[in-house]
Amino acid sequence: MNDAAANEPGKQLSRRMSLVALNPIIAVMNRARALRAAGTRVCDFSVGEPDFDTPGHVQDAAIAAIRRGDTRYTATDGTIALKEAIQAKFRRENRLEYRVDQVTAAAGAKQVIYNAFQATLDPGDEVIIPAPYWTSYPDVVRLGGGRPVIVPCDRASGYRLSPTALEQAITPRTKWLVLNSPSNPTGAVHSSDELRALADVLERHPQVLVLSDDIYEHLVYDGQAFTSIAQVAPSLHPRVLTVNGVSKTYAMTGWRIGYAGGPTPLIRAMAAIQSQATSNPCSISQAAAVAALLGPQELVAERRADFERRRDVMVEGLRHAPGLVFDVPQGAFYVYVDCSALIGRRTPEGTTIVDDTALANYLLEHAHVATVQGAGFGFSPAIRLAYATAEADIRHGCAAIVAACNALH
Ligand SMILES: Cc1ncc(COP(=O)(O)O)c(C=O)c1O
Repeated sequence: MNDAAANEPGKQLSRRMSLVALNPIIAVMNRARALRAAGTRVCDFSVGEPDFDTPGHVQDAAIAAIRRGDTRYTATDGTIALKEAIQAKFRRENRLEYRVDQVTAAAGAKQVIYNAFQATLDPGDEVIIPAPYWTSYPDVVRLGGGRPVIVPCDRASGYRLSPTALEQAITPRTKWLVLNSPSNPTGAVHSSDELRALADVLERHPQVLVLSDDIYEHLVYDGQAFTSIAQVAPSLHPRVLTVNGVSKTYAMTGWRIGYAGGPTPLIRAMAAIQSQATSNPCSISQAAAVAALLGPQELVAERRADFERRRDVMVEGLRHAPGLVFDVPQGAFYVYVDCSALIGRRTPEGTTIVDDTALANYLLEHAHVATVQGAGFGFSPAIRLAYATAEADIRHGCAAIVAACNALH
């Protein structure tokens, strides 16, 4: 290669770049945006973010923080005020006790998870990730030098990890188990008995840390209760990182505040990683998160009821879609739909639906509904539909999907 070729921008990227893919959800969002820009009405079931406004008292707290001059660097992983608010939240809602030095805050739960894997993984360390999984877990593990060990959990098992599957996946190199209940992308919720059964396995393997991603904690339906593994199994408390954030609960995705409770040495190491990445989460967002966590909580139950109603609208709207099979999800704001029966069918334009990516493309182009293919979540053939959008859009989009499925032959 001559010097000029070697210096082309694309050739200068690190080998690490081969470990990460462009988030498939962002790819879908970009294509939906392009269609919309061309004047098409697109129902967007791809994005996982509440469409509500951030509560007024939280907005006010942020404005007050700006006026007060909370506009400088803060302590690396959160102000004392925020850490105490997080501590109070864990005590109030999860009956989990953390000292302030066992609590960390970052620019979103995503950065918390990134910090945790950067701080703990050595080459060859394994991280057990049940599939379908949130798209970021495997990439963040790889970026940390670890090896994702994907454990498929099928529809028959309610997309939930069984103790047997967990036991079989554990090796001497296992560093972490990732749990995410309620789950993105399936909405599956682990009951406290199921978590207890997983804890029984973990108690036999003291080297395994547990990352409990509880970001959808407040979106659990049908009267079911949320539980977190550290609460169910106090013996595991010293090796669980309980991750949460304000994004989904308080409609604050753009504010970028996530947090966690865990063992002090891990929390300290995560703060060290963060100190060389972002220095600290945004000072104004931290003040807003304090208001969210300590302020009135009535809105949380109201939003849950809204999402439960939307879930029912989507489930009803998809019930008669030929070839789409699913169970009613118990939490989060996603329906994970098995589309095996549609693979091999032909579109009116004569294209074959060869896989779930082809189906998602067809639904976007033919029905103008944006969904995400199961391939992005490590479990195919399926599509994920988010119902974090207005009921009218859900009705319209589902009717368009039913018509598009009917048009396949
Ligand atoms: C399962 C799961 N964990 C973590 C996150 C990240 O949330 P945050 O906005 O706090 O980074 C998301 C966001 O979509 C998610 O679905």
